[in-house]
Amino acid sequence: MSRLDGKVAIVTGGAQGQGEAIVRAFVAEGASVAIADINEVGGQALADELGERAHFTRHDVSDPASWEALVADTNERFGPVNVLANNAGILRFGDIDTMPLAEAQLVWGSTSRVASRACRRSRRR
Ligand SMILES: NC(=O)c1ccc[n+]([C@@H]2O[C@H](COP(=O)([O-])OP(=O)(O)OC[C@H]3O[C@@H](n4cnc5c(N)ncnc54)[C@H](O)[C@@H]3O)[C@@H](O)[C@H]2O)c1
Repeated sequence: MSRLDGKVAIVTGGAQGQGEAIVRAFVAEGASVAIADINEVGGQALADELGERAHFTRHDVSDPASWEALVADTNERFGPVNVLANNAGILRFGDIDTMPLAEAQLVWGSTSRVASRACRRSRRR
């Protein structure tokens, strides 16, 4: 038995990079995974490669309506969501002394806003 047998996961930003690695690991451990990303080409190619326990959905984490559709589709396709990998976010590198406040707020604010919205929405059945 694998560690995630029977689990249903959403991985945001799952089409490439760290998110792709999470998707691959979750599927290898037995989960069914919704790959949620704005990268349609990469996300669809990954889902096609991984087979029936992976499904790509075009999803922009900053769009509240997109969350409703993603969770509803995942619940219907695989069952209730158990796991949320809140991977997609905004990252800007810079010096804390010189980075404009608006840019710092974009990084911190968007990430926490998206994360809290994602947690609330994915718990809905
Ligand atoms: N790689 C690092 O060193 C590092 C360090 C700290 C934090 N992070 C954070 O980890 C996460 C993944 O990093 P990565 O290096 O794999 O990034 P990456 O750029 O390789 O991949 C990010 C993925 O997120 C998707 N994405 C971007 N905006 C999106 C949106 N609005 N909605 C849905 N999907 C979206 C992209 O299409 C892409 O597939 C990011 O949030 C990043 O800020 C990365």
